[in-house]
Amino acid sequence: MRVAVASDHGGFPLKDVVINTLKALGHTPIDLGTDSAESVDYPDFAELAGKAIVHGEADRAVVLCGSGVGVCIAGNKIKGVYACLCHDTYSAAQGVEHDHMNMLCLGARVIGDELAKKIVEAFITAEPSDDPRHLRRVGKTRLIEAKEMKG
Ligand code: RB5
Repeated sequence: MRVAVASDHGGFPLKDVVINTLKALGHTPIDLGTDSAESVDYPDFAELAGKAIVHGEADRAVVLCGSGVGVCIAGNKIKGVYACLCHDTYSAAQGVEHDHMNMLCLGARVIGDELAKKIVEAFITAEPSDDPRHLRRVGKTRLIEAKEMKG
């Protein structure tokens, strides 16, 4: 799977952990920066990762900032991006299976390397469910998106 990875300076300390975890699991990370601890703005990096998904360059994305909150809010402003802040493995897997999440958000100031590895693995190995009840709920969410996010 092609996975866009992007972070601001707050997420930067965890970015290589995410990239190396994805490689170890046999996936193809696409590193979209940032490339240092110099202060940058998280919306710019959430946008790069989200556009990689909607343009078909990546299948999923992992984005990082200090808390994971900023990149989550910004990522969800892109039509076709379903971003969730998950600091536990259950949500990271169920978010894909039940809710068809395609962007995992992590806070590098909140979780450590080992938990991040497990969360990334849970996210990347989960597959969206085609159970009718989940498809119905995801469909309703897409209808809200279509009504509320014009253009
Ligand atoms: C940067 O200081 C910090 O605000 C950012 O990384 C993130 O935590 C925002 O949600």
